[in-house]
Amino acid sequence: MDTGLWHSALWTAGPQAGEILDLWRLTLAVCLLVFLAVLAALAFALRRSGRATRETPAELGGLAVPEAGPRRAVAWALSISAVLLGALLVQSVATDRALAALPLQGALHVEVTGHQWWWAVHYDDPDPSRTFDTANELHLPVGRPVVLTLRSADVIHSLWIPSLAGKKDLIPGRTATLVLRADRPGAYRATCAEFCGWQHAWMALPVIVESQAGFDEWASTQRQPAKTPTDTLALQGRRIVLGGDCVMCHRIAGTEAGARSGPDLTHLAGRATLAAGALPNDPAHLAAWITDPSAHKPGVAMPAHAFKPDELHAVVAYLQSLQ
Ligand code: CUA
Repeated sequence: MDTGLWHSALWTAGPQAGEILDLWRLTLAVCLLVFLAVLAALAFALRRSGRATRETPAELGGLAVPEAGPRRAVAWALSISAVLLGALLVQSVATDRALAALPLQGALHVEVTGHQWWWAVHYDDPDPSRTFDTANELHLPVGRPVVLTLRSADVIHSLWIPSLAGKKDLIPGRTATLVLRADRPGAYRATCAEFCGWQHAWMALPVIVESQAGFDEWASTQRQPAKTPTDTLALQGRRIVLGGDCVMCHRIAGTEAGARSGPDLTHLAGRATLAAGALPNDPAHLAAWITDPSAHKPGVAMPAHAFKPDELHAVVAYLQSLQ
């Protein structure tokens, strides 16, 4: 599925990814230089060894007796290698320090929990009434530092938003922190960067960076409980969802569905994708996903649902009403 989301460590949109890109460029330049030097030395040695074999007496096995020249060349090669490796070491320590030095005044705090294979997202706030939950989509205000607290609910995952920051592992039983700032509005793609099972490749997290006003508007919508629909079809769907097994795993704020082992569905219709970036969020894909999730994401925990066509239609109508 082409999501149109930016996903490149070479196209950075924040200082953290920028620092890492600078280090990557230096590493690339040094390695390229070393590679070319090794090739040049190899060509030189091949030419010399041909000459040496011709010129050295056979009783010496055709091997050249070492002279002062090659020994000096070896000393030079060792010194240059040490200097280059030293430069890379210094630069990587400097990068590490720069990454840790991001000013965090007024930071937004978000908890991200990795599950096989989706992301739970909790927006923190000193005022408990302003916290909220969502899933599989991260919204960030542009220019504001963000502290991501990372956890795992099952196995080791790793969060990587290439355009914004480096990778950070999510380890069961531990808490990790990733700080970043997005300086360019846009839609980015984060992925899980640690093999975590069958659907590791489909554990994506769209990251939407928008103006503070746009973010505030989005956040205030997310804080609202789900609206009860007014049209008959969606109301019928609501009865089916709340009376069936959906509520065993999912939460829909404002209803009796409060489970958290699956993604929060309170504002599902506002998200661009389903199943952690695996499918576009439209009625046809939603119906296909509910009917047989394993057909689209083999190994997924969500079971298949054998709804009658009119029931499925109603369930989709209700989920589509969760704006
Ligand atoms: Cu989660 Cu790979």
